[in-house]
Amino acid sequence: MLAGKKILLIITGGIAAFKAIDLIRLIKKAGGEVQPILTASAEEFVTPLTAGTLAGNAALTDLFDLTRESEIGHIELVRDADLIVVAPCTANFMAKMANGLADDLASTAILARDKHVIVAPAMNVKMWSAAPTQRNLKLVVDDGMQIVGPVSGEMACGEFGPGRLAEPETVFAAIQDYFFTFSENLPLKGKRILVTSGATREPLDPVRYLSNASSGKQGTAIAASLRAAGAEIEFVTGAADVPPPNGVNVTQITTAQDMYDAVHETLPCDVAIFCAAVSDWRPKDAGSEKIKKKGDGKAPSVEMVLNPDILKSVAALEPGERPQLVIGFAAETENVVKHARAKYERKGCDWLLANDVSESSGTFGGDSNVIIFFDKQGHQEWTQMSKAEVGLKLTNRIASFLKHPD
Ligand code: C5P
Repeated sequence: MLAGKKILLIITGGIAAFKAIDLIRLIKKAGGEVQPILTASAEEFVTPLTAGTLAGNAALTDLFDLTRESEIGHIELVRDADLIVVAPCTANFMAKMANGLADDLASTAILARDKHVIVAPAMNVKMWSAAPTQRNLKLVVDDGMQIVGPVSGEMACGEFGPGRLAEPETVFAAIQDYFFTFSENLPLKGKRILVTSGATREPLDPVRYLSNASSGKQGTAIAASLRAAGAEIEFVTGAADVPPPNGVNVTQITTAQDMYDAVHETLPCDVAIFCAAVSDWRPKDAGSEKIKKKGDGKAPSVEMVLNPDILKSVAALEPGERPQLVIGFAAETENVVKHARAKYERKGCDWLLANDVSESSGTFGGDSNVIIFFDKQGHQEWTQMSKAEVGLKLTNRIASFLKHPD
């Protein structure tokens, strides 16, 4: 998929540098070429020999090796590449990129760049949230660089929070997306795809609501990947922890009924994907005043009514009005296959992606997912992968389906 693509991979110092080795493997497996550059501090964590051997291109470390050969060696290095990736990117290197410092080969290559840059930061959580880092981040984003991660999790130093390098698979997915986006042969060009995402909120009164823990990350990743493949995306979203992807048409909704209305107004489309976590019920009467504590000390009882099932309603549309492909999700906490199969049959969708959202799975709010994919042939278990990769895999499957519908 990356055949003939040359990636200049800048590895900067940090405990996460070893993950760059996995990234090299992924790029090579996909047919891409890697030219590694290591900063002096990266050499403390991985050796140029390891990076160079895996890449099949000697890793470069020293500005003067190149300038000895030719005055403009570092410029040629950048001209020769199709894409630059900085993974992991330390706080120090981010500061250098933001301010145009050029005191080693890696920072010189960045300053001399004429190519897109994907940056995967990795640093201590306090360093990440520090005001100078956030200022530098804004500067590099304003300069057009694309940021992947960091993700939240336990850090090597024992602290917890954002700062961990995105998984190599996620960085790899961003690389693939980049080449997808800029390839002339976009597989989903001309296709209109609706994606629902996030959580609905059902008001109990003007200040309280019933909702769920959906982060919107999976729907966002799917929409981003479909968009990168050239589709026009109608993104109907409830509350989410992440912003909608770039380049999609966003309709922001609150309740399930709002989402139902927005979806039906948006149709027709070629494919509809229902990733949102929709509340199955809503309080019957959300009064216009805040519910008061009762004098007798008893909790109020709330009468619930059913919300419309959006997925089911779209799957049941007549041919002509119905999208060619209707795709649902099933979030299960136990007996995933059994419950998801029943849901697949009940909803009338063409494909269903089931996942385990039990507390131990870490799926809700996390960055990876284990999907069981159902279609009319049966089901198959996908290996654990990042939400970005789920987006990519689904995108490829949709593209090949639309090319050769069963
Ligand atoms: O029935 P359940 O909520 O588990 O079904 C999950 C699937 O159905 C998801 O694809 C979700 O987006 C969709 N759904 C919907 N409208 C509802 C409830 C669920 O579209 N009211």
